[in-house]
Amino acid sequence: MTVHIGAEPGQIAETVLLPGDPLRAEWAAKTFLDEATCVNRVRGMLGYTGTYKGNRVTIHGSGMGMPSLSIYANELIRDYGAKTLIRIGSCGAMQERVNIRDVILAMTASSLSTPSRGIFKELNFAPCADYGLLKNAADVAQNRGISCHVGGIYSSDVFYDERPDLNEQMTRHGILGVEMEAAELYNLAARYGVRALAVLTVSDHLLTHEALPSEERERSFGDMVEIALEAAFA
Ligand code: HPA
Repeated sequence: MTVHIGAEPGQIAETVLLPGDPLRAEWAAKTFLDEATCVNRVRGMLGYTGTYKGNRVTIHGSGMGMPSLSIYANELIRDYGAKTLIRIGSCGAMQERVNIRDVILAMTASSLSTPSRGIFKELNFAPCADYGLLKNAADVAQNRGISCHVGGIYSSDVFYDERPDLNEQMTRHGILGVEMEAAELYNLAARYGVRALAVLTVSDHLLTHEALPSEERERSFGDMVEIALEAAFA
């Protein structure tokens, strides 16, 4: 047990999928894993461990925002030995060519700040995905005919953003989408020498103001879970 995770030693797999929403963790585990067992309920942040095509996997909520993700990722890596961590979540599109329902694989994650800012001080560290996971995920998406973009994303500290000028600069510099967790996941993966990737479904569009209808969110989310699981074990 750790401060925030009630699992016994050995109950967390080396491969962990991290959706922001704990109820999505439960849904994904019950939908895609065999013999999914609940291994954490502390603060309602559900985690399940089961198998996917014979491989052990944990699907655990990260909460929203980098401080929350940082707590869970730190404990999963340092205390439970997680070696591959894949965020599965939603994002807002920042390019015209990116459409609602498309998948974005985050090659890099820019930010104004992360929980690691205090360590890096004057250094602008460039958080990036694990190349092997990224390549596997891109191959899986292509083979399944899923519309997929690979490139930089923006990990924001705010959902209700008061800096439209900053979003314009992101768009001008080719950033594909905005979410709130990947940069710190990539920082931690670099620090501890583990593999990380963020697989994101576009749920809303910052330029066109379209949004994915709620009844369609689950199906698009399912594509993303399968890309993450296949990429982890390819
Ligand atoms: N901003 C930040 N995070 C998000 C968004 C957004 O527009 N959409 C989905 N996650």
